[in-house]
Amino acid sequence: MCGIFCYLNYLTPKTKKYILETLLNGLKRLEYRGYDSAGLAVDLCSGDVKQTVIVRERGKVAALEDLVRLNKELNMNEMCTNHCGIAHTRWATHGEPAPRNSHPHRSDANNTFVVIHNGIVTNYMDIKKFLMSKGYSDFESETDTEVVAKLALYIYNEQPSITFQKLVETLIEMVDGAFAFLFKSSKFPDEVIATRRGSPLLVAIKSRMEMMTEYFPILYSSAMSDSLSGGESSVVNGLGLNNGQDINAQSRKVAQSGDMPSGVALNGHVPPPSAVPSTTASVEAGEFKLGGMEPVEYFFASDASAVIEHTNKVIYLEDGDIAHVDNAGGLRIVRTKKKHANEKEFRYITELQLSLEQIMKGEYGTYMEKEIFEQPESVVNTMRGRINFETGQVKLGGLVEYLDDIKRSRRLIMIACGTSYHSALATRQILEELSQLPVMVELASDFLDRNTPIFRDDVCFFISQSGETADSLMALRYCKKRGALCVGVTNTVGSSISRETSCGIHINAGPEIGVASTKAYTSQIISLIMFALLISADRISMHERRKEIIRELKTLPGKIQKVLDLRESLQELAMKYYKEKSILVMGRGYNYATCLEGALKIKEITYMHSEGIMSGELKHGPLALVEPTMPIIMVAVKDSVYVKCQNALEQVTSRGGWPIVICDEDDTVLESIVEKNRKSKQEGAPITVKVPKTVDCLAGILTVIPFQLLSLYIAVANERNVDCPRNLAKSVTVE
Ligand code: M6R
Repeated sequence: MCGIFCYLNYLTPKTKKYILETLLNGLKRLEYRGYDSAGLAVDLCSGDVKQTVIVRERGKVAALEDLVRLNKELNMNEMCTNHCGIAHTRWATHGEPAPRNSHPHRSDANNTFVVIHNGIVTNYMDIKKFLMSKGYSDFESETDTEVVAKLALYIYNEQPSITFQKLVETLIEMVDGAFAFLFKSSKFPDEVIATRRGSPLLVAIKSRMEMMTEYFPILYSSAMSDSLSGGESSVVNGLGLNNGQDINAQSRKVAQSGDMPSGVALNGHVPPPSAVPSTTASVEAGEFKLGGMEPVEYFFASDASAVIEHTNKVIYLEDGDIAHVDNAGGLRIVRTKKKHANEKEFRYITELQLSLEQIMKGEYGTYMEKEIFEQPESVVNTMRGRINFETGQVKLGGLVEYLDDIKRSRRLIMIACGTSYHSALATRQILEELSQLPVMVELASDFLDRNTPIFRDDVCFFISQSGETADSLMALRYCKKRGALCVGVTNTVGSSISRETSCGIHINAGPEIGVASTKAYTSQIISLIMFALLISADRISMHERRKEIIRELKTLPGKIQKVLDLRESLQELAMKYYKEKSILVMGRGYNYATCLEGALKIKEITYMHSEGIMSGELKHGPLALVEPTMPIIMVAVKDSVYVKCQNALEQVTSRGGWPIVICDEDDTVLESIVEKNRKSKQEGAPITVKVPKTVDCLAGILTVIPFQLLSLYIAVANERNVDCPRNLAKSVTVE
């Protein structure tokens, strides 16, 4: 949930000003991940011993920037030939947003070890008790992270000859929970160690040297077996827990339980071992090193948007990886042990295709606005190269090898959270119709709470824009353990879900920065519909239906543009609604998902109450809410439930309700029902929002856009922070 960033320059002289600007810019790109406080740690480069300075502030990165500018210890002109700076933007889990709870956290008043963290350390209370019993009691924060910095110092003090890498290997065996950590220490100047378990982290490389390989070999360290069986046992085994267990025993249990991911490569694509080049010139004393007495710069970040302006060469770290940049500028990725025999022994060096322009706001006031208006293009990108509009052929490269298994499955289970869950609801009906399989749609958290039975012949889809949502990821591991085929539908190449699933569909909507998901939603729907088309390709009986959908997919970008052109009337509507306390949104059939998603958009960025209501349920309770002053929006297009929607509208208007109706552009019936009930004070106000006609299963794409725009304009009218709504974060990497 937090954003992690590190900039390390080796044999590359930079001013302190440059270093600080790089760190602060990196944080700004990650701010969507959390924005209640921020902090950074840099070194004073003059003097024999590098002293670490920490600056932390409540609020957004801009507030930290101001504080950095005022800091008297930092000399902006100071030149640093080698330097490691770390920075963090926080989304609070333990302890209120305040400088003392902001990262980096430190081991002691000398800042000997400093750490930044994304995730939650679940056994932090036990570690804290232990550390206090050993005299490490100067805790400054209420966070779960501070114990980690102090634990690092404790391990070091117990064994001052320990290497940085072994220290971190030892430490993470003692920590339970989810994390991405970055460690920096004055005992190991100009070095950094990054490691992850359950939270995303990548390392990006900027070097003049040509990268000779697409693969970065992993080293296996014997450190843990050493430490567990003797050498460092005084450090490791000395930690007494409440129930007499030691922390290592607990950690070993977690590792054996299979909770850790298997490390399967991107969507199941694992190159044969022979394709992994043996490293030649780069191997030194058995260790792969990049850099090493060559100028090089490294960036560590929670996601690629923070590094793309510097370099496009990245390595996505996997759970259990320890990436170490040493004081000779060498990078190595180490794992303590092999989890299984066919674990891949390398990481891909990915060349990012993302451009900085793609992640900038451009002419728009907010990222959300930009992302809404990008939809005519993003849906094309989702379909590009996958649908042949002439022949009607659909191809999803990521599923090719698994299609037969999917067709033979017992049921399809779609698992997701929030907006991604709504995309599953929006496509369930067409999936059932075209696949002729039972389709279950599950909220990931509830799915786990229920210990839902899962079978080997189930196919489970994990839909997630970020690919990092903790609930969805946990559900994925749960299903994987039970032998189901797991399919990822994500917008983030290299994300945990895309790596841990056997196969998948990349929705290709482009980076989505605004916390409120918009273009990812419409691209998720299209991806799932393409899947439905693919799985039904052999069914003659579905031929006409498929043809109709494919024809409509082709015209969709133009129709989306027509809805976006309604922005002025939606702005007008926003001015009518922006002082209201609540808006009810009603619909059924394919458009029920639009109602839920529309209400979520309104809640999320306007902070107004809003509820999506299945209009078939009106008479079972919600009708009691209807009165002339209650703002209501109804969605009703001419599909198989149109007449029922018309009835619902009558039920509402006959009780004094006066809804706005989102309907087809040629509809006059619904308009006249509302018109008939118009009261004098409603004179002049818009009655309908008319969207182009399309096939039933695609209508939700067109009917949701008015809600995206309406919520945006209401939020702007109320001066809300559209891109970073309060209490929320883009990527929810905690349960
Ligand atoms: O990254 P994911 O799609 O897995 O995220 C799931 C939800 O947290 C997300 O869709 C959330 O509901 C959005 N902020 C809604 O706009």
